[in-house]
Amino acid sequence: MATSSSAARRARPAGIPSPAQMFFQGFLKHPVMVGSIIPSSDKLIRKMLGPVDWANCKLFVEYGPGVGTFCRPILERMAPDATLIAIDTNADFIRYLDATIVDSRFQAVEGSAADVQRIIGERGFDHADYILSGLPFSTLPAGVGPAIAAATHQALRPGGAFLVYQFSPKVKDFLVPHWQRIDHAMEWWNVPPAQLYWGWKD
Ligand SMILES: C[S@@+](CC[C@H](N)C(=O)[O-])C[C@H]1O[C@@H](n2cnc3c(N)ncnc32)[C@H](O)[C@@H]1O
Repeated sequence: MATSSSAARRARPAGIPSPAQMFFQGFLKHPVMVGSIIPSSDKLIRKMLGPVDWANCKLFVEYGPGVGTFCRPILERMAPDATLIAIDTNADFIRYLDATIVDSRFQAVEGSAADVQRIIGERGFDHADYILSGLPFSTLPAGVGPAIAAATHQALRPGGAFLVYQFSPKVKDFLVPHWQRIDHAMEWWNVPPAQLYWGWKD
């Protein structure tokens, strides 16, 4: 069965900051790339992951995991033989994830979401079942958002979905060129309130 949250966590060694401290430090160092000062709320996480069919998920990819706010709930829900690949451009966050999450199903990768196809290919996968994005699409450098959306659509299997949470509804502009079926919801219990989208690949 799915690994319990305690099994997926490592007791924080002395000198390793709490997730909230680490996230805030990351924001101070790279405000544009991190795009937020507070990690996602539990309510947002539950709503975003609600539609995932965990029994048919062998590869889950997360873009912009930060300090792992979503990684732990994903690992709690994932099957024992599934894999979570978390991709972040911030080397400090990747080191933090490696130091604080111990789970054989988990791989933290320093890189860009735009390279998702290469990153999963190097790890033996053709396609991802689900891809989750916490990226600040509206503040990414010009051209990066459209490139990530196109690469994501290509990397998903038919029937899979792109899960996106964002503070601005403008993120939908990146999805519309690729996804015909897009579900939407709001989560007010988050700082700031978030727009949630699920783009289903036919
Ligand atoms: C809003 S923060 C993530 C919040 C976190 N997922 C949560 O739920 O609290 C955005 C993250 O995206 C990462 N990021 C920015 N551009 C990226 C890119 N092109 N590829 C992968 N990660 C990126 C940043 O380093 C940062 O960790």
